[in-house]
Amino acid sequence: HAADAYRTDLMTITRFVLNEQSRYAESKGDFTILLSHIVLGCKFVCSAVNKDPCFVMSEYNKRRDFAIPKISFSVEEFDCTCFYYALLRCYHSVDAVNRHSNLQHGHINQFFLAGLAKLIGLAGETNIQCILVSEEDEEATFVSPPLRGKYCVVFDPLDGSSNIDCGVSIGTIFGIYTAKVSEPTIEDVLQPGKNMLAAGYCMYGSSCMLVLSTGNGVNGFTLDPSLGEFILTHADIKIPKKGKIYSVNEGNAKNWDAPTTKYVENCKFPKDGSSPKSLRYVGSMVADVHRTLLYGGIFLYPADKKSPNGKLRVLYEVFPMSFLMEQAGGQAFTGQQRALDLVPKTIHERSPIFLGSYDDVEEIKALYSAEN
Ligand code: AHG
Ligand code: MN
Ligand code: MN
Ligand code: MN
Repeated sequence: HAADAYRTDLMTITRFVLNEQSRYAESKGDFTILLSHIVLGCKFVCSAVNKDPCFVMSEYNKRRDFAIPKISFSVEEFDCTCFYYALLRCYHSVDAVNRHSNLQHGHINQFFLAGLAKLIGLAGETNIQCILVSEEDEEATFVSPPLRGKYCVVFDPLDGSSNIDCGVSIGTIFGIYTAKVSEPTIEDVLQPGKNMLAAGYCMYGSSCMLVLSTGNGVNGFTLDPSLGEFILTHADIKIPKKGKIYSVNEGNAKNWDAPTTKYVENCKFPKDGSSPKSLRYVGSMVADVHRTLLYGGIFLYPADKKSPNGKLRVLYEVFPMSFLMEQAGGQAFTGQQRALDLVPKTIHERSPIFLGSYDDVEEIKALYSAEN
C-alpha cells in the first residue's frame, strides 16, 4: 500500500556492504570502495545492454564527426567521458542497429573495467586493486606499483554472449582475492577458489539483479532504475536441499563420460519411482545458476570427449558460482574434487562443474567415486 511506495529504510547494496565491512575492525573501507567500483561497472553494463539501439545511433550520428578516441585502456587513465564513447562504439555502424545489438565483448569489457577504474579519484592516490583478470583479456592487467591496492579481481564481463542478439538474459560474474604479497605476480590470482574474499554475479534480464557473497551468506539486490540503486530484495538466500530441475546442454550427450551419462539417465528415468526431473537450460551460466540458486536442482557443464576440461573457466565462472553455492548451503564438484579446492595453473583454465542443491550434487559425486 501507499506507505511501502515510499519506504525510506531501503537497504542499498552500499549500506549493506558498509555494515558487512564494520565486522572487520582493521578494514579501511577499501573493500567497500572496490565493491562500489564493481557495482558501478555492473550499472554501466546494464545500461549498455538495455540501451535502445536507435537512441544510441541517433546520438552517435550527432557525434559522427567526432574522432571517437581510441580508448587505450589503462587502469590509471580511464575516466568517465570514455564511458559515453565506449557505449557509442558498441553501435559502430548503422546495420548494427538492425541486429538489435552488437555489443562487442571488448567494449563491455571496458565498461566493466572502467567501473573498476572510474572511482580511483575518489579512492585518493592509491588504487584498490592490483591485478585484474578478465575473460576478454589474454593477459592479466597489473596496476602500476605506486597506484597498486591489495585486491585482485577476476571477472567475466559478459557471460552468455551467444544470447545477446535474441534478448535472453546475460550477466557479469566476478570474484575477489587479496594479493598475498606487496609485489603481486600472476601467482596471486592462481589461488584456490576457497581463498576468495567475495564473489557474485549481476544478471541483466527483465530486471537487473546482483547476487553477492562476502563470505557470510548470499544476498540478492535488485536495481531500482528510478533510484539507480541496488536494493536488498533477497536476504540470506538458501538453496533448497534437493531440487526437481537439472540443467545441462543435452546436445553434448554423445560425448559424455559414464558417470554423467548415468546421472542424467537417472534424472529422466528415476529408479526409485520418484518423478523425473524437469530440464531447464538457458545457455547463459548466470541465468541457469540464478534459477538453480532460487529454485534448487543441479547445473552441470561436464567434461566430454571433445573438451576433457569442460567449457567453463575456473577463475571467473566456476569459482564465483561455486563460492555462492556453498555459501547458500549447496555444493560444487568438478568430477574429481570440491571445486573450490582446485588450484588453477593458468588464468583461463577450464574445469568440468556440477553445482547446486546439496543432495543432488551428492548423487553425482557418488557416481564419480564409484568410477574413480
Ligand atoms: P561466455 O559468454 O562468457 O563465453 O560464457 C558462455 C558460457 C556460459 O554462459 C554458458 O553456461 C555456456 O557458455 C553455454 O555453453 P553451451 O552453448 O556449449 O551449452
Ligand atoms: Mn561466461
Ligand atoms: Mn564472457
Ligand atoms: Mn566468451
